[in-house]
Amino acid sequence: MKKPDMKEARKRQQKEIKYTKYKTKSNKFGNNKTYFVRTYGCQMNEHDSEKICGMLESVGFKKSEDIEKSDIVILNTCAIRENAHDKVFGFLGVLKHIKDTVNPNLIVGICGCMSQEEVVVNELIKKYKYVDFVCGTHNLDNLLTLIEQRIQTNNRQIEVLSYEGDVVEDIPVIRESKYSAWVDIIYGCDKFCTYCIVPYTRGKQRSRKKEDIIEEVKQLKESGFKEVTLLGQNVNAYGKDIYNDYNLANLLSDVADTGIKRVRFVTSHPWDFTEEMVDVIAKRENIMPYIHLPLQSGSNKVLKLMNRRYTKEDYLKLYNSIRKKVNNSSITTDIIVGFPGETEKDFNETLEIVEKCKFDGAFTFAFSPRENTPASLMKETVSEEEKMDRLHKLNEIVNKYSNIANKKLEGTIQKCLVTDVSEKDDNKVCGYTENMKLVNIKGPKSLIGKIVEVKIVEAKSFSLDGEYVK
Ligand code: 5AD
Ligand code: SF4
Repeated sequence: MKKPDMKEARKRQQKEIKYTKYKTKSNKFGNNKTYFVRTYGCQMNEHDSEKICGMLESVGFKKSEDIEKSDIVILNTCAIRENAHDKVFGFLGVLKHIKDTVNPNLIVGICGCMSQEEVVVNELIKKYKYVDFVCGTHNLDNLLTLIEQRIQTNNRQIEVLSYEGDVVEDIPVIRESKYSAWVDIIYGCDKFCTYCIVPYTRGKQRSRKKEDIIEEVKQLKESGFKEVTLLGQNVNAYGKDIYNDYNLANLLSDVADTGIKRVRFVTSHPWDFTEEMVDVIAKRENIMPYIHLPLQSGSNKVLKLMNRRYTKEDYLKLYNSIRKKVNNSSITTDIIVGFPGETEKDFNETLEIVEKCKFDGAFTFAFSPRENTPASLMKETVSEEEKMDRLHKLNEIVNKYSNIANKKLEGTIQKCLVTDVSEKDDNKVCGYTENMKLVNIKGPKSLIGKIVEVKIVEAKSFSLDGEYVK
């Protein structure tokens, strides 16, 4: 049993990253068995779950919609905030009940960011004896071995590595969508924002080789995909660890050259976002004009405490440059309120910058201390009540501007990639505009998988209503 060690993880010894290929298993030990995967958290986790499904199905497991009848349930977890933890532990209670009552042979496994947290794994080992295996983020490619060993030996399997894993190519994937695909470009993060657990749970920054990424996009295009989203905790740092003169701007250009209809990327860090990147986004038609650009705070004092490495002036400069150069851009952001030391004045500075930027949307969070991060050692100065109050005030302004941004689109024609039947209305389909607005579209189901023109007839708070034009 290998346990995690946060101190080791922090050392980041200048270890060379090895590039390896996934080792396919020939033993079909999943034949006649079913699985269920539940995903928490970000897009990177969603894509990891596609890999988990891919690996399981490669040895014969079949997907099940019914947990009670499944042979194996995997929780792909998130550690970013306390409430993500709570959700997982809550669901573990449900699984225990299922094991105790209807399905005693159910195998329960934990993957994802929580499995890289020392405290969590220790708790799972001591108190959650019905969890059958834990597989860390750095050794996800070893998942099937852990499951096979658990089945063969009946012993719990815990494997969490505290050093960064290799970059493993060719892990099988079962993609959720047939039209829009996630493509990893960089793993881990070296920014060490003081509130963030990601540099510890996902490890050191490791870029995939450009040839592997471009080849993956070419294959996706050939198999009918219309859109790719390039993924990383900080995509703007792409290449810095392996190339001297090849960065995200070059990669975006090369990916655009494949001719795939739509190219997106998340998440951006303002620090690594160069004008060269803005220019490529502005110039290339198939790079979508949507940018998620986390601000986190509008106070220079708080930004410094957060170790964000930019000032609000730097942020505004970049923001304005994107707005100026990229046609019909939409920009969303992340903001944390109640960071240790954030005064009323600091918070008001955040409100001011939100008023200035008029974001298309924002994900807003109350600060939640994460184990072993620098901010967890800072003295909390904002009460929970005050955090909620600030969140509420901020959300009012955020919603005001997101409504205004949506309203502006009323009466316009937007190109949408239709991906599904609408969740709200069975007789409608839905899709996303180039600048990432969700549209419920009056039109036939045969539109699914196509990029079509849609007239926006009404803006709602979180979506648009539209009619198919051509
Ligand atoms: N507390 C609150 N919000 C956090 N985020 C990351 N860590 C924390 C934390 N400890 C937010 C940031 C980040 C988003 C994904 O989650 O805004 O951009
Ligand atoms: Fe966390 Fe900062 Fe890295 Fe984003 S850039 S993953 S917030 S450390």
